[in-house]
Amino acid sequence: MKKLLLLVAFALVGTLSAGENALVLPAPTKTGGMPLNEALANRHSSRDFAADKEFTLQQLSDLLWAASGINREDGRMTAPTASNSQEIDLYVALPAGVYFYNRAGNTLDLLVAGDVRKNTGGQPFVGQGTVEIILVANLDKLKGADAMKRDLAYIDSGYVSQNLYLFAASANLNSVVRAMVPREALAQTLGLNANQIITVVQTVGFPK
Ligand SMILES: Cc1cc2nc3c(=O)[nH]c(=O)nc-3n(C[C@H](O)[C@H](O)[C@H](O)COP(=O)(O)O)c2cc1C
Repeated sequence: MKKLLLLVAFALVGTLSAGENALVLPAPTKTGGMPLNEALANRHSSRDFAADKEFTLQQLSDLLWAASGINREDGRMTAPTASNSQEIDLYVALPAGVYFYNRAGNTLDLLVAGDVRKNTGGQPFVGQGTVEIILVANLDKLKGADAMKRDLAYIDSGYVSQNLYLFAASANLNSVVRAMVPREALAQTLGLNANQIITVVQTVGFPK
């Protein structure tokens, strides 16, 4: 209830900056962009990022909607999930903190204050002017046999990752998906439970 009131207050005031409890995202851009075949032709991993640029809220909204935002009235998303389980949560590490992407509300809800981007990996480019999108599979949300759940979670993560790659290609951003992630330490930082597994982290940023 308190969170809801905060969101309503923020929405009314309309002036949000990083570091507050919730960032109200502008509506995502659902038209235009690069033709799909050109985006496919441009899709690649890059580990070169400009260190001094920050994303606008519009860019974040567009990026996250492309990743796995809602694209239909019934709440289904740009990325498919097994039995429509919608178990892949996006934890977005920005300079001010780690935010939970609330796709229904189109908000970023602050989970952990402070810059933990560099804690999402050991490679030198990590957290330097980038947004680090941590894909967390909530196995409790996954429908189906327990023995299949991890496999399904990793498959579903792949669609989100490819959406991010294609959006990055289309928007002239650089990106790389990373499986080399300090999962245990990061899970602790994010306060995850045993059924919430970090599948991959995707780095997105501006080219140098
Ligand atoms: C599941 C998966 C895990 C990956 N993990 C890492 C990683 O930890 N660090 C990294 O720099 N690149 C990582 N990559 C990126 C691959 O190295 C890259 O996709 C591959 O070299 C092919 O290059 P391309 O994406 O430009 O086609 C990963 C890619 C995939 C699909």
